[in-house]
Amino acid sequence: MENIESILNQALHEFSALEDPVELEQAKARYLGKSGSVTELLKGLGKLDPGDRREQGARINRVKEAIESALSARREAIQEAKLEKQLAMEALDVTLPGRGSGMGGLHPVTKTLERVQSIFHSIGFTSVSGPEIETDFYNFTALNIPEDHPARAMHDTFYVDADHLLRTHTSPIQIHYMMDHEPPVKIIAPGRVYRVDSDATHSPMFHQIEGLWVDEHVSFTHLKGVVSDFLQRFFEREKLKVRFRPSFFPFTEPSAEIDMGCVFCEGQGCRVCSHTGWLEVGGCGMVHPNVLKHVGFDTEKYLGFAFGMGLDRLAMLRYGVNDLRLFFTNDLRFLKQFE
Ligand code: FA5
Ligand code: MG
Repeated sequence: MENIESILNQALHEFSALEDPVELEQAKARYLGKSGSVTELLKGLGKLDPGDRREQGARINRVKEAIESALSARREAIQEAKLEKQLAMEALDVTLPGRGSGMGGLHPVTKTLERVQSIFHSIGFTSVSGPEIETDFYNFTALNIPEDHPARAMHDTFYVDADHLLRTHTSPIQIHYMMDHEPPVKIIAPGRVYRVDSDATHSPMFHQIEGLWVDEHVSFTHLKGVVSDFLQRFFEREKLKVRFRPSFFPFTEPSAEIDMGCVFCEGQGCRVCSHTGWLEVGGCGMVHPNVLKHVGFDTEKYLGFAFGMGLDRLAMLRYGVNDLRLFFTNDLRFLKQFE
């Protein structure tokens, strides 16, 4: 019985060193379990005199209670420590640098369009647009391409239904604009166009930019000047060679294809320019009188020039991209290079 207080001290000492709840419960059993040391003492009470029994019983019970409260205090402490640890582990370090959401960038074709527009705006052209779904009239007939005319075969057309098609060029925008406005007209008209066409330099959807200047004294000289100056500024090459190769479009007369000196080989001849030293970037010509008549302009008074260039081609040449399809597959590894 003398060691009852030392049992209590030992228990308190032992509990305070334990960190693990399972070990704490095992320690509890050593004191308060079926054959724990305190339980044994309680069992021994029966052998004592009734007087001693009460006194000793009270002592042992005080110790038992003290052990129990020490146990629950320790249990709580262990639980709290566990929680602290978990909170510390899950804590957010607000001083860490952020992951960054990655800035998007403009698509290279969009960048090209903006560059083209700013050059034309600087010399007085205004941007206009038109519908991507057209009627036969705007896409062909009003552009002097009659029904059954072989020129229609130049464009492999996607038809939406019997009366509607995806525009094959930006030239129908000329018609819309001239029907709604009186001369003088000085516009550029960019947009998506569609053709049944697909290889490294042809895509079924691509972009053109149309130019149209109609006034009293507009000549082929103006056309050459505007287009050459544009290309030299666009490619930042004062000495860039530009040539106008005689060609045919039903809506212009005379007509020409616009070729520029190959920027890859400086005109020496390479794979990109098919060893000619020249690259085609568009078509152009003096607006055909029949087109002006269709929109009600006085053909005795007004003359004009028009051109249509491939925007994606310009982007390819400016950025040195050798496959047009890269612009439309949206591979981020490709697009990120233009951010
Ligand atoms: C035309 O589309 C005429 N409307 C251009 C024009 C306008 C002539 C005004 C006269 C007056 P063409 O089919 O050649 O012409 O196309 C013009 C340019 O678009 C080409 O030089 C080329 O740069 C580009 N292009 C044509 N087809 C494709 C294609 N499938 N993919 C990418 N670019 C193309
Ligand atoms: Mg052509």
